[in-house]
Formats: sequence, structure tokens, C-alpha cells
Amino acid sequence: MDWLEELKAAFAQEFAQAADGAALEQLRVKYLGKNGRITKALAEPGGAASAEALLEIRKELNTLKKAAGAEISVKAEQLRQSAIDAAELQTPRYDTSLPLRLEKGSYAPITLIQREVEAIFESMGFTVEDYAEVTDEYNCFEALNIPPYHPARDMQDTFYLENGQVLKTHTSAAQNTIMRKYGAPLRAVFPGRCFRNEAIDANHDNTFFQMEGMMIDRDISISNLIYFMKIMLSEVFGRPVKVRLRPGFFPFVEPGFELDINCLICGGEGCPSCGHSGWLELCPCGMIHPNVLRHGGIDTEQYTGFAFGLGLTRLAMMKYGIKDIRDLNSGSLKVLAQFV
Ligand code: PHE
Repeated sequence: MDWLEELKAAFAQEFAQAADGAALEQLRVKYLGKNGRITKALAEPGGAASAEALLEIRKELNTLKKAAGAEISVKAEQLRQSAIDAAELQTPRYDTSLPLRLEKGSYAPITLIQREVEAIFESMGFTVEDYAEVTDEYNCFEALNIPPYHPARDMQDTFYLENGQVLKTHTSAAQNTIMRKYGAPLRAVFPGRCFRNEAIDANHDNTFFQMEGMMIDRDISISNLIYFMKIMLSEVFGRPVKVRLRPGFFPFVEPGFELDINCLICGGEGCPSCGHSGWLELCPCGMIHPNVLRHGGIDTEQYTGFAFGLGLTRLAMMKYGIKDIRDLNSGSLKVLAQFV
């Protein structure tokens, strides 16, 4: 049967060309799905001269169906495995139990990741801003729609200095200053060290790093936010990473989200670094609240914007496979030696 040979050849050719999981899935639907070419042919095999011929065609079609399904599954698994292997090759080995061999100095992992993320955002037209570690309550809270006695302050208890200043609890503390400095439109990232009164464990420290990002312009929406986050994360990890958005509350964004990434240390199975959930909260984000824009002198009739607070410390832990956050501020040469 000509059409049967054609069908086989068409499948073989498209199968050879399918280079990733998504393409294979499309192929499965196209040939084996409910309205797939093979499925349809089986239902109505045309052109058989006799009942015997019909039987023969059905047999061949069934063989083709089985073989196609199996080939697709095998190739999909192979592709998945080689993606994992490639990713593993790229992930530097982090093992502080190895004997210390330090012939020269190294950058700290946070510095490395910070520079990398800065370069990615710079390439997308963002400027990199510097901001003080000691600030005041206005910048850290009030300008961000967190008035005195607002319960949101509880989660961000910090070191209060005698002169009324505070050690900043998040890089969002720079939002107001940067809006005042540039006005709209604006694209900026600002990395920084943050401080909170935390119960310390493998995943929490009183001193950690974030990188804030803000983009303000006409017609900025959540799609812009998701786009920039995805580009950034896939650049950092050198492969597409799984993310999920959950609603999250922060007084300075509306709507607000928690962007989680699949834990790359355990692959989503659950480990101490991800609190056994398989996901790591990496990047709270959202659309900047109009009150915050107004505090920054931005015309809310004309402009909207998004902001995110990337956990640089978490990102470094993910990227380098650092299981205990306390390694990072330990000053241990065994830690630094991993990054020479
Ligand atoms: N500043 C918030 C925090 O550290 C994170 C955040 C930044 C949330 C920007 C939304 C937008 O918890």
C-alpha cells in the first residue's frame, strides 16, 4: 500500500528530526493521539482489495503503532538523561571535606553569582545600582507601604541602631531612592547584603544577599516580569529550569507572587535545603503597588512596573550545590577553595 509506506516514511523522518521532549510529545500526538495519523488509519484503513488485505494492513498498522510508541518513549528518556548528564557536568563539585589545597585566592560564591546575574540584566538594558547597608525606617518600610506597627514588620525584625537607623532587611529598601534618582522609565537591579533576626539553620542566616530588580515603564505587566525571570534563570543554570508562581503577600506589590524553582540539589525529591518540599522559594515578586510608585514620585496614571527580590544567597546555593547556608558566612578557606 503506497499510503502505508508513505505514513511509515513520514513518521521515520519526523522522528529523526525531533530533537527534544516537546517535539517528541508533538509527534506522539500527531501520530498516536486520538486524531493521530496512525490511529485514524487504523480506524479506517483505505484501499484494501480484499478482507485478507485489510487484515494485513491492520497488522502492519498495529506493528507500526507499537514500534512508534516505543521509539518515542525510548528517545524521550535518552534525551532526558543526557540533559541531566550535561547539567551535572556543568555543576561544579562542591565538597568541603576534601583536603584543603589553596594556591591562590578566589572570589566568594556570592560575588561570582552576583556578577553573573548583573551581566545578564545589563545585557537586557538594566543598570546596576549600589545602595547602603544602613538605612532608615522610611526607606526600609514606610516608603514600601509598610507603616509603623504593620504586622509585615514582624517578619523583618532587624538590627535597630541607637540613632534610629536600621540594617536593611531587604534590597527593596533602595526602591524609593532609585525611583527618585531616575524617575520613569527605569530598569535597574541592585544587589546587597541584608540582615534579619532569624533562627539560624541550614537554610536561614541573619545575613544574606538579595538582588532587587525594578522595571517601570508604560504598559508593564506580569508577562514582562515572568519573561525576565525565565530568561535570567535559564541563563544562570545553563538550561531551562522549572518554576512555579504562587500568590504571595508583600505590602509593596499588588498582585504579589512567590516564584519557586525546582530544587536542583535533590531534583525535587526533597532534602534539607528545600525543607523537604522539592521547591525553593527563590524570587518573591509582583507589580509595584501604586502607593510605592507615588512615594517614589512616579506618575501612576502613566506608569506601571514590576519588582522582584531575588535571593542571591539561595541562588548561589542552588547553582553550586551548597547544602548549608552557614558555609557562606563562615569565612572558611575550605569553602573558598571550592571556587578557585
Ligand atoms: N523584599 C521582599 C523580601 O525580602 C521581596 C520582594 C521584593 C517581594 C520585590 C516583592 C517584590 O521579602
